[in-house]
Amino acid sequence: MKTILTLALSLSVASSIASGAATVDKADRFCITQYNQCLAAVAATAAKAEVITSTDYVWNAKDGDKVAALKLKGDIARGRKSYEICAACHLPSGSGVSNIRLPQLAGQHASVMIKQLSDIRAGIRYTPTMEPFAKTRKGPQELADLAAYIETLCIPHEHGRYEGADADQRIAEGKVIYIDKCKICHGADGDGDKTQFYPVIAGQHYQYLVRQLIEIRDGIRHNADPDMVKALKKFSDSDRVAVSAYMASLSMAGRMCPVTADSKKK
Ligand code: HEC
Ligand code: HEC
Repeated sequence: MKTILTLALSLSVASSIASGAATVDKADRFCITQYNQCLAAVAATAAKAEVITSTDYVWNAKDGDKVAALKLKGDIARGRKSYEICAACHLPSGSGVSNIRLPQLAGQHASVMIKQLSDIRAGIRYTPTMEPFAKTRKGPQELADLAAYIETLCIPHEHGRYEGADADQRIAEGKVIYIDKCKICHGADGDGDKTQFYPVIAGQHYQYLVRQLIEIRDGIRHNADPDMVKALKKFSDSDRVAVSAYMASLSMAGRMCPVTADSKKK
């Protein structure tokens, strides 16, 4: 049974998401050093969300566009062309923006991209900003093409990290948590596992990571692995900051590249 709770709206945040592709606004800056303000911004985004509370969700069920797209060979040249519309938000380099909203995509496993895009198309990962762009893809072949292209992009070394004065201490705390609870799936270097649909975490923006940990916990991002959801339910604010600070510090040897003119555009 699928029950959807629609919570109260906060339109100002929605409109700033829509126009936020190229800006790092004041509220986002707070996330770096002042966690409470960051949480307020996340809460405002979450307030608009449809939280799917069904208990019968089967993680990564073998159905829909995903299965079809995974069987197809992605065409990198066609993917590059399709990606032009995506670059408006995720930037031509795929680096996204160092804020709570726009993830870095470059170098993500094609399997992960296909799962996430299919889930967004199917409405089981709630993201009003991204949804229209997922829904208007022509079909499984275009998903495969996009995923093949994005996987070829190198992961920008320069991305949003935790910049508080206590960064060293936070990263050290986060490492302990990560090794204990997260490394088994996301890998020692944050390289995930393409065969298991576990995403690359290395190179991801700190603020986006913090928001995902909340949205995965709360079922806004309903398509998440249940074992991970369980682990995240027990996290304190401090744990979220620490583990996100650590994840954003990870680096995958041979997959990261220097910042380009495109990824510098903020
Ligand atoms: C209007 C801005 C916008 C456009 C255009 C856009 N996206 Fe996104 N995308 C977002 C936002 C915002 C998120 C974060 C969603 C969330 O938090 O759940 C996102 C998330 C994603 C994710 C999930 C990333 C992850 O790490 O899980 C993928 C994959 C993605 N986008 C691919 C694409 C592709 C491919 C296109 C082009 C067809 C595209 N996006 C176009 C805004 C956009
Ligand atoms: C059982 C394997 C597993 C474990 C353990 C796990 N994860 Fe995940 N994680 C996933 C999968 C799979 C996804 C992609 C979401 C989905 O579709 O399920 C994901 C997604 C994420 C994302 C979002 C990435 C993005 O690009 O949007 C973050 C952040 C994350 N995990 C953090 C963590 C942290 C922190 C821990 C440790 C507490 C953890 N994960 C433990 C499997 C796991």
